[in-house]
Amino acid sequence: MKQQLSIALILTSLASTTLAADLKRGKSLHDENCVECHVSIQGGDGSGIYTRPDRRIDSLPALSSQVNRCKNSMGVSWPQDQIDDVVAYLNNSYYKFTE
Ligand code: HEC
Repeated sequence: MKQQLSIALILTSLASTTLAADLKRGKSLHDENCVECHVSIQGGDGSGIYTRPDRRIDSLPALSSQVNRCKNSMGVSWPQDQIDDVVAYLNNSYYKFTE
């Protein structure tokens, strides 16, 4: 019984590690793939596109679909977990949506 419990605990903690977004990976994917084009639109370091007063994104689902659209415009296919990491990185650094 006790052993079963600890196995359950180990499984739970493994699952939450895989589910937790990797902000560092999100940042490097973003910096390598997304910044250049935004700089050409927005100037500066490109992050102004996320912080401009008339920015378009107003929720986490909207952020997620915009990341998808922009990613599609680059013609790359990323697995969902990479998209999630980039969304998490952008949300953590700029948007701060809670849902
Ligand atoms: C080929 C150019 C290009 C690339 C590459 C690109 N974007 Fe974009 N991005 C745009 C354009 C254009 C807009 C919309 C600007 C507007 O609406 O004024 C935009 C807007 C956005 C916004 C919304 C900003 C707001 O208004 O709040 C997000 C978020 C975003 N991009 C994320 C990404 C991510 C993540 C990547 C990399 C996976 C990426 N973009 C790559 C061109 C690009």
